[in-house]
Amino acid sequence: MPRQCAIRSSTARILEWSPETGGPNASLRPLTIVPPPFLTFPMLYLRVSATSREDQKGMPMTQPARMVYTDHAATTPVCPEALQAMLPYFSTLYGNASSIYTLAQESRKAVDTAREKVARVLNCRPSEVIFTSGGTESDNAAVKGGALALKQTGNHIITSAVEHHAVLHACQQMEQFGFATTVVSVDKSGLVDPDAVARAVTGQTVLVSVMLANNEIGTIQPVEEIAALVKAEAKRQGRTIIVHTDAVQAAGYLSLDVRKLGVDMLSLSAHKFGGPKGVGILYMRRGVPFFPLIVGGGQERERRSGTENVPGIVGAAEALVLADKDRDAASRHVAKLRDQLIAGIQARIPNVLLNGHPEKRLPNNVNVSFPGIEGEPVLLGLDLKGVFASSGSACSTASLEPSHVLTAIGRPADVARGSLRFTLGHENSEEDVQYILQVLPDLVQKLRGMPSLAAHR
Ligand SMILES: Cc1ncc(COP(=O)(O)O)c(C=O)c1O
Repeated sequence: MPRQCAIRSSTARILEWSPETGGPNASLRPLTIVPPPFLTFPMLYLRVSATSREDQKGMPMTQPARMVYTDHAATTPVCPEALQAMLPYFSTLYGNASSIYTLAQESRKAVDTAREKVARVLNCRPSEVIFTSGGTESDNAAVKGGALALKQTGNHIITSAVEHHAVLHACQQMEQFGFATTVVSVDKSGLVDPDAVARAVTGQTVLVSVMLANNEIGTIQPVEEIAALVKAEAKRQGRTIIVHTDAVQAAGYLSLDVRKLGVDMLSLSAHKFGGPKGVGILYMRRGVPFFPLIVGGGQERERRSGTENVPGIVGAAEALVLADKDRDAASRHVAKLRDQLIAGIQARIPNVLLNGHPEKRLPNNVNVSFPGIEGEPVLLGLDLKGVFASSGSACSTASLEPSHVLTAIGRPADVARGSLRFTLGHENSEEDVQYILQVLPDLVQKLRGMPSLAAHR
C-alpha cells in the first residue's frame, strides 16, 4: 500500500475507534479535511464549543470540543496591532515608495519608520536592515550573496547539519559554482560545538552559517561563541569570513542584538512573530561584502531590488517591536506550558523520547518521538480532535522522508518518523495543554496497538 494510503487508513481506524464518531461506518467517511468556516476567521484559535454540524454528504459530524493551535513554528496569526498598522497601506496609502509625489512619500515614510523600528530591536543602523520576501530569501541572500562576493578570496562554506533547508540547499547550490561545504555535525541534543566550527575553518573559508534556534527541536545554538571564534581566526589569517545566523525561530524569545551576537548577517521572517507572510528581514553589517541576487530598480540600497511591500514591511516592523517588548513575559508563559506538556506526555505515555536539548531549547518547543508508530496518523487524529501540530517528516516532499534534523541527532529513521512537534504561542493556555494531554495518550495507545505501517509498504 502506498505510504500516504497507509497513513490515511490508520487514521480511518482511529475514527472507527473514536467514541464520538458513532459506529464502524465512520471509518468509511472520506478523510479529506475540509476547513470549517471558522478557520477563515483571523483569530483561528478562537475556542469553539462542542456543536453538531453536517459534513458534505449531510451526515452529522461532531466538532472537536476545542481548537488548539500549537504550530507556531510553522506560522503565527497576524497580531491585531500589525494588522491595523498595515491596513491603510492596502487602501488609501497605496503609493509606490519610490515615486516622488506626496502620496508615494507617505509610503516612503512608512518604510523608513519601519526600518528604524527594526534597527532598534536589532541594535543596528537602519541602513543595515534589508526587507526581503521572507526567511527563505534572507537565508539565500546571506549564503549565496555573501559567498559570491568573496569568491576571489576563497571557496569554502561552513554550516551545521540541523539548518533549515533554506540554508542547506543554498550551500549545496553553491557547490555548482565551485564552492565546497563543510557540514558540522551536532551532538544528540542538537547542539553545535563551537570548537568544531573553529576547527573546520580553512584558509579558503568565506562564510559560516549557524542558526540561532532550531525550528524542529528548538535547540539554541551558541552563536555568540561561534562568531567570536570564527572572527578571531579570520583576524589571525587577515581575511574576511562572514558569519550569518538564521534567527527565524528565535524572534520573540531570544535577544536579536546583532552587536552582542557578533554576526555580520541575520535572517528573520515576519510570519513567525505575529507579522504577515511573505516578508523577511536581513540584517547586513555595514561594509560586509555582498553580491545582490535580485537586481532591477535598485531598491534597498541596491541590495534587493523590487517595489517595496509597504503594508508587509509596516506589519513586520510593528509585530517585531511587540514581540521583542513582550519577549520575557511570553517566554515565561510558554515555558511553563511547555514543561507541563512534556511532563504530562512523559507521565501518561510509555516509551517517549524528548528530542532537542533539555534546557537550551526555545521556551515554546516540544518535540517528542513515540517509537513504534508514525507521526502522521497521530497528527491527523489530533486534527480531528481540533489540535494542530506538526510531525517529524518532511511532508513537503511526497516521500515523507524522516526529518534531517532528527536524523542528525541520531534518531533512527523509524523513530524520526514517529515524532511530533508542538510549538506553543502566547494565546495558548493551561486548558489547551490539558486538552492535548486528554486526547494524545489515547491516540498513541490505539496506534501502538495497530500493525506498523512498515507492514503496508
Ligand atoms: C529556521 C527557519 N529558517 C527559515 C525559514 C523560512 O522562512 P519563510 O517561511 O519566511 O520562507 C523557516 C520557516 O519555517 C525556518 O523555520
